[in-house]
Amino acid sequence: MRFVRLDTPKPISKIGLGTWQFGSREWGYGPDYERRAAEIVRRALDLGVTLFDTAELYGFGRSERILGAALGDDRAKVVVASKIFPLLPVAPVVQQRAVASAARLGVDGIDLYQVHQANPVVADTTTMRGMRSLQDVGLVGEVGVSNYDLRRWRFAEAALGRRVLSNQVRYSMIDRGPEEDLIPYAEQAGRIVIAYSPLAQGFLSGRYDVTNPPAGAVRRANPYFLPENLARGTQLIATLREVADAHDATPSQIALAYVLRHPNVVAIPGASGVEQMERNAAAADIDLADDEYAALVAAAHAFRPVTGLAAVPRLIRARLGK
Ligand SMILES: NC(=O)c1ccc[n+]([C@@H]2O[C@H](COP(=O)([O-])OP(=O)(O)OC[C@H]3O[C@@H](n4cnc5c(N)ncnc54)[C@H](OP(=O)(O)O)[C@@H]3O)[C@@H](O)[C@H]2O)c1
Repeated sequence: MRFVRLDTPKPISKIGLGTWQFGSREWGYGPDYERRAAEIVRRALDLGVTLFDTAELYGFGRSERILGAALGDDRAKVVVASKIFPLLPVAPVVQQRAVASAARLGVDGIDLYQVHQANPVVADTTTMRGMRSLQDVGLVGEVGVSNYDLRRWRFAEAALGRRVLSNQVRYSMIDRGPEEDLIPYAEQAGRIVIAYSPLAQGFLSGRYDVTNPPAGAVRRANPYFLPENLARGTQLIATLREVADAHDATPSQIALAYVLRHPNVVAIPGASGVEQMERNAAAADIDLADDEYAALVAAAHAFRPVTGLAAVPRLIRARLGK
């Protein structure tokens, strides 16, 4: 396992584990997944993963409970990251919600406490007042944000009066927005970009095609899995396979290596089974050659999916089975 080179109380592994899937029906993994989830966590620990990401929103607290129970006594050794869903995130609410998350996780302190998304009405001045007091009493280690643009990330830092260590954003080969400003800022200021959906929810695994789309409500709502986009992705997947073959690896591992190439980026893929966790952890050790990276960039640029408003009628038709 590799780690981010930054001064943090505990080392942060380049591959973490995302746990939205834990306790969430909308991924469609069925009742047996709760047992598998615990196995995934235990295997991640064996493999040197030190970053475990959850949120109060995931399964309405179930993800935090499952993660905390699976970590057991190892909770104190790793970086446990959770998120407050910012519904009225004024200081007293932030404090009360952190206490509730810590209780569900079974921890004395949350190593990284993140604001799940920017609140359009409540300013970060108020939210960060709550975060600062949580740090002062030791219930929160580092503060993070999620889905923030650069302006608001910096504003949050000014409001906190300390570093906001990380910004968790969607980042993969086919969602490259963070390369514009968030990643350069992280590198310059000693911060971290936490890449969520680094496999584009499994699109980049190459497992799915027009005749075999994934199940579950989450991915039924994801435009990348529209038949048209699965077809448009054929060449991109072929390039991933080509690079993967040269490393005796899988397309998913190469997709992860792509985002991890940036020193201040860590990725938190979710996993439906232990074997995926193993492969994802191993991806931290893959070094892409410059020509391989260039081929991936070119293939990703050439992929033109139907997204945004244009995808909405198609998503509705797909849901209605038409
Ligand atoms: N802050 C936010 O707003 C936000 C938003 C979304 C996610 N997140 C966080 O980021 C984490 C990851 O994002 P995500 O779950 O949306 O997407 P992701 O990590 O890109 O995709 C996860 C899915 O990809 C498949 N997969 C994983 N490893 C694989 C491998 N080695 N080979 C083949 N397939 C593999 C699995 O699905 P199948 O096996 O079923 O195909 C898995 O459930 C979440 O768990 C959550 O913690 C945060």
